[in-house]
Amino acid sequence: MDPPSRAEMFDFHGVCMTQNFTNTWESVQNFKARPDDILIATYPKAGTTWVSNILDLLHFGWMPSERQTTIPLYDRVPFLEICVPNMHSGIDQANNLTTSPRLIKTHFPVQFVPESFWEQKCKMIYVARNAKDNMVSYFHFECMSMVSPDPGSWSSYMQRFMKGKLVFGSWYDHVKGWWEKKRTYPNLHYMFYEDMVEDTGREIDQLSSFLGLSTSAKEKENILNEVLFDNMKKNKMTNYSSFPVMDFKISPFMRKGKVGDWKNHFTVAQNEEFDEDYKKQMKDPTLQFRTEI
Ligand code: PPS
Repeated sequence: MDPPSRAEMFDFHGVCMTQNFTNTWESVQNFKARPDDILIATYPKAGTTWVSNILDLLHFGWMPSERQTTIPLYDRVPFLEICVPNMHSGIDQANNLTTSPRLIKTHFPVQFVPESFWEQKCKMIYVARNAKDNMVSYFHFECMSMVSPDPGSWSSYMQRFMKGKLVFGSWYDHVKGWWEKKRTYPNLHYMFYEDMVEDTGREIDQLSSFLGLSTSAKEKENILNEVLFDNMKKNKMTNYSSFPVMDFKISPFMRKGKVGDWKNHFTVAQNEEFDEDYKKQMKDPTLQFRTEI
């Protein structure tokens, strides 16, 4: 088996991508969504795994515990567009899911979502995370993910982030594109990572109501416990320790799980430059992020 190699980025329909997420483009675009499919969408490192685990437990927490203890979360919630060597593609995994509803993850910007999800009026959950912490998390991830492009130095990474030259494109366009969609597509629930850190229980209640579920107090208590950062970090089914292409000696997947870790990475000058640029790129006063709580 060849060792994993770091991917090259290229422009794909105006968005920076790698082959790992475009190889199956045709079949992804032709994916036949079902009306009860639930799409979890995020810019990478915004809280996908956390919300995926919450949704999986909300829907399937009642099933025999083997599901949670033997099937990694990344198999229970397939990553629609992923296609890396020596692994099942996300599209095959999604098509082979036997549970209903199917929970499916994507990092696509809104304009890349396959048409059938809109036609079927599928429920969608978008999680957004403040740009600074999102970038820090993405940087550490690309250091340890051996199929990601080489992240280079932290300062060059920040420049690329501001220009939108990272896999899945511009964070700014991503969060704004999905926010805009919310205005015209009522089946989209837009959440913030910072709100989840602040009050996970409140966010679970909102999710449960959006999904039309009646979650008992006992179920909620169980979910709250299962999805605590420390518990997900210990849990081999949620911490990605069995995922082949990650080097945990460089950084764990479940790294810190905090709001405000950016303060340990940005210099004062970098912070000023970033804030200046942020104001130009993020003009919509209705979309506000918190960089501390
Ligand atoms: S990925 O690869 O895009 O699917 O990654 P994603 O899951 O979106 O983001 C990973 C970051 O989310 C943090 N995380 C959590 N934080 C708090 N509580 C829980 N339960 C939790 N689960 C995952 C994870 O630690 C990554 O953030 P950083 O800042 O790197 O720690």
